[in-house]
Amino acid sequence: MKQKIAIIGAGNLGQAIASGLMNSGLIQPKQLTLSRRHLSKIKNFEDKGVFITQNNIEAVQNSDIIILSVKPYKFEEVIQQISPYLNPDKILVSVVTGIDLKNIINHIPQKLSVFRAMPNTAIAIGESMTCISSAQPDDPNILLITKIFDQLGKTALIDDELMDAATVLAASGIAYALRYIRASMQAGVEIGFQADLAQLIAAQTVKGASDLILKSNHHPEKEIDKVTTPLGITITGLNQMEFNGFSSSVIKGVLESYNKILNIKDDKE
Ligand SMILES: NC(=O)c1ccc[n+]([C@@H]2O[C@H](COP(=O)([O-])OP(=O)(O)OC[C@H]3O[C@@H](n4cnc5c(N)ncnc54)[C@H](OP(=O)(O)O)[C@@H]3O)[C@@H](O)[C@H]2O)c1
Repeated sequence: MKQKIAIIGAGNLGQAIASGLMNSGLIQPKQLTLSRRHLSKIKNFEDKGVFITQNNIEAVQNSDIIILSVKPYKFEEVIQQISPYLNPDKILVSVVTGIDLKNIINHIPQKLSVFRAMPNTAIAIGESMTCISSAQPDDPNILLITKIFDQLGKTALIDDELMDAATVLAASGIAYALRYIRASMQAGVEIGFQADLAQLIAAQTVKGASDLILKSNHHPEKEIDKVTTPLGITITGLNQMEFNGFSSSVIKGVLESYNKILNIKDDKE
């Protein structure tokens, strides 16, 4: 692609996006500007030919697409600083958690393409699930922004109202899935494996289960039916997990996280 990209707030997520975009070959290092206050922490990007700066305004002026990746409590300060330089030729993408499109647009004097993206930490290995929302449903730049995040995993275009739900299901979802892997490992050790081997077996098994669904598009239960022989071993264990509240525990946990996000927003309003 020919556009230049600035990532303002090049911390964990910002750097993961930068690395992913360069590794995918979608952009060359010289098309990328990274900004943060502690430049020494992104010196490795400068060594690769990326422009790094402490000056957010310079980053905006240098670029066509601006990815805002600061912590939520920094959003107000940074958007006020850069908004006078956001003209209609620029595209703004915010990955800041909990700040909705309406709020972002309220800070921008000019009309321009504005998007929100909610990736998860697997973006660091190009395996993110990234939900994207657009301020205008017919924005011609939707394809371009989707293409950027497609380099970093899978994408889904959603209504901005669903962004909190996406935060829970995809961003927090990584932690839920990891906790399943950990529990599996703990059980694996108890039935005879060394911890590192139990980790490999548990993690690769979850990866395989995911790929089965992603590649076939089958409902999980269809794949479960293939493993659960009548009177068999798997169904015995599975039913025991359900007697102990496996599915309802996951559902309750997701709802609790979702309620928490809504409560935090209510407190702020
Ligand atoms: N990590 C995830 O998986 C994930 C997923 C979805 C969304 N998010 C959201 O993405 C955002 C970034 O998360 P993160 O984990 O990458 O946080 P982070 O590591 O703290 O990165 C934010 C960076 O912003 C920089 N910064 C602070 N003030 C600045 C300013 N005035 N101008 C320019 N840069 C400034 C900080 O660096 P200096 O101190 O050097 O300035 C910091 O490295 C958050 O809003 C988070 O909620 C994260």
